[in-house]
Amino acid sequence: MATTSSTPSQGILSADREEERTEIIALLEQAYFMELETVMSYLCNSINPDGVRAQEIKESLEEDIEEELSHARQFGARIKELYGVVPGSLKFEASQSDLQPPEHQTDVVHVIRGVIVAETGAIEHYNKLIEACADVDPVTEDMVITILRDEEGHRRMFEGFLREYEAERPS
Ligand SMILES: [Fe+2]
Ligand SMILES: [Fe+2]
Repeated sequence: MATTSSTPSQGILSADREEERTEIIALLEQAYFMELETVMSYLCNSINPDGVRAQEIKESLEEDIEEELSHARQFGARIKELYGVVPGSLKFEASQSDLQPPEHQTDVVHVIRGVIVAETGAIEHYNKLIEACADVDPVTEDMVITILRDEEGHRRMFEGFLREYEAERPS
């Protein structure tokens, strides 16, 4: 009979799943940093834009910041549960070039397009994570599926904003 101190013989925490665990932790670390970079990008883009038309976008980004931060928390907690260590800031490498402040702060379309690119990146990475979890880690898989739905919702909302802006553009 197993003692209380022994590791589970089944599932992602078992000794013979170490390889899969390492792979999933690496993908979770990447997801964690993606969320944190998104928080930084959405924060600056919720403050910088000027003009009446920017107001809606700024408010929407403000709401998303809270959601993305909660995603980062969930990824961090799962890294720990899988016996990983949540990485520190020195391991962070920025990559969201599309979400840098535009030249003109009334250029809301630049921000909308940047958000769509970031959400698309998240959607692609989380699909990869879900694939890596298939058959080996249903708990991480379940968590990421829920987060993926949030990102698809964010993307869809900003796609709608872009449609409106493009329809309004004078020909
Ligand atoms: Fe997120
Ligand atoms: Fe998002």
